[in-house]
Parts: sequence; C-alpha cells; structure tokens
Amino acid sequence: MKSIDGEIALVTGGGGGLGRLLSLRLANLGAIVIVWDINKSGIEETIKLVRAVGGTCYGYVCDLCDREDVYKKAKIIEEEIGKVTILINNAGIVTGMKFLDTPDKLIIRTMDVNIMSHFWTVKAFLPTMLKNNKGHIVSVASLAGQCGVPKLVDYCTSKFAAMGFDEALRMELEYEGYDINTTVICPYFIRSTGMFEDVQSRYVPTLSPNVVADKIITAMRCNEKYVIIPSYLQVLLALKWLFPWSCSAMLLRGLVKDASPNHVDSEPCVSTDTIITEKPCAVSSSKDQNGKTIHQQLARRISSERKP
Ligand SMILES: *[C@@H]1O[C@H](CO)[C@@H](O)[C@H](O)[C@H]1NC(C)=O
Ligand SMILES: *[C@@H]1O[C@H](CO)[C@@H](O)[C@H](O)[C@H]1NC(C)=O
Repeated sequence: MKSIDGEIALVTGGGGGLGRLLSLRLANLGAIVIVWDINKSGIEETIKLVRAVGGTCYGYVCDLCDREDVYKKAKIIEEEIGKVTILINNAGIVTGMKFLDTPDKLIIRTMDVNIMSHFWTVKAFLPTMLKNNKGHIVSVASLAGQCGVPKLVDYCTSKFAAMGFDEALRMELEYEGYDINTTVICPYFIRSTGMFEDVQSRYVPTLSPNVVADKIITAMRCNEKYVIIPSYLQVLLALKWLFPWSCSAMLLRGLVKDASPNHVDSEPCVSTDTIITEKPCAVSSSKDQNGKTIHQQLARRISSERKP
C-alpha cells in the first residue's frame, strides 16, 4: 500500500456522509485534506472532526453544478494550499422517482453533480498532476453504474457515465505513459448517508458507510482499478452478460425490489448525500446577480484563520 503522507487530497461532498468518513481516513494517514461541499455547516463539522483527530483540513463551499465555481476554487487552492495529488469525486445525489415523474430540473442536477462535475474537477486538477507526473483520481460510482434499476433512470445514467469517464481517462493516461492512476468504486446501496435509507434490498444487505470508506482508501492505496463492494457481486455482473436478458432482469428485480428512497411515487422528494435539496443549481443558474454574489462570498476559505 502506498503512503499518502503529506499529500493533498480533495474530497467533493466532504461535508457529510461518505465524504466525511473518507476525509477522516485520509487525514489519519497524514494527508492534508480539502473538502468541498455546498453545505457550509457540514464543511465546518468535517473540519472540526478532522482537527479533533490531529489532522489538517480546509474547506470551501463549492457548487459542483457551476463549473466556473469549480475552476475558481481550484485556483484558490493551488495558490493558498498547494498541489492536489489525490482527487476523490465523491459527491452524489439521487432523486429516486419514476422517469416521467422526475422534473427536468432534477434530472439536470443529477447529471451535473454525479458526472459533469467529474469533467470540471479533473480539468481543474489534472494539468498539475501531469506536470508532476503524480496523482490519483478516484470516482465514486455505484453498482447502479453497472445495472439498471427502476426509479433510478437518471441516477443510473450518471453512474454508467462515471464508469465510462474513469475507464476512458485511465486509458488515455496509460497510453500517454503517465504515472497517474484512477480508481472507480462501485458500491451496492450504502445506508446512513441519507440516500438509500429505505431501499428494499433482498439477499444483499445494504452497506455500512464505514466499511465502504475503508475499502475505498485501501483500494486507492493499492492502486486498484475497479472496486465492487461487496466483491462477491462481481460474479453477478459477469453473469449479466452471459445469461439471456430475461434471466438477468429477473435476477436484478429479485435483488432490489424498490430503490426509491422514499417509496412515494408522486412526491418530488429529494434525498441527497452531500448536496442539499433544490438549492445548488438554483443558486448558480436561476438566481440573480445578487444571489450569485452572496454565494461567491461564502466561497472564501472557511478555515482561513485556522491555517497553521
Ligand atoms: C449540513 O451539515 C450539517 C452538519 O453536518 C447537517 O446537520 C445538516 O443536516 C446538513 N444539511 C443538509 C441540508 O444536508
Ligand atoms: C499506479 O499504479 C501502478 C500499479 O498499477 C503503480 O506501479 C504506480 O506506482 C502507481 N502510481 C501512483 C502515482 O500511484
């Protein structure tokens, strides 16, 4: 396992859920942790927790739906903290409604947070990684990036895309001979992150976020490429391509009866991991100049006075 001592690691969606658990583990291993989130108090909480275990952590409010905001915060980080060598694209949201019931705005938001943000963050941090020929990009996808699930059409689409993003990027970097690794993580449904609390899962228990966080860190340190959690589901994925579709579909349906986070078909309930309800995109896209200014002010480094 490689050492990450002294490296700068950025975790999107680090203001809660899995992102917070990842931040704590990275800090424990000696990395300087930077968290991005839309939730300011979530960021403050993560910073507090990391500092409580003796780690170093900075936080920025960053709206992943707004690529200019991503570029801007990336520049500030490079100037004020240093070169990010570990990028963990962890932020994710889920709507969990039948396709035709999903408002356009929520479909766009799912794509913005779950996949488009990967383009912008990697564009922001990869150039420096290339220059130093050092870096690791981790994408937190999902098993929903390998199999379709009812009521998760937008979510599955974004996660399939995250798989493609990781694989094509890895091919490109390997082809050009760079020593920059990528890892894609495909966990089954995780509990206690506010995303999939009520998933009706049969046979396979939902996962503990602590277990998933441990696996992600270990996989990164071992330079693994694909991580299926739990790993025995890898067999099922292989079977998907071997059996006729009707068998595979039966198997998948048997596994997850209902993946809707709320089981309410018509209610526009939004369950999110690290990004809050309707606000993120509204702030950047439909609010006036005023809203935007306030948002950008929030973006100043929250931990500025805590710099050692
Ligand atoms: C923001 O973070 C705080 C602190 O962790 C948490 O209590 C709160 O629920 C979060 N807000 C949202 C909307 O997720
Ligand atoms: C990338 O992974 C390979 C093994 O697959 C390893 O030899 C190399 O050191 C890794 N590079 C980084 C920067 O972790």
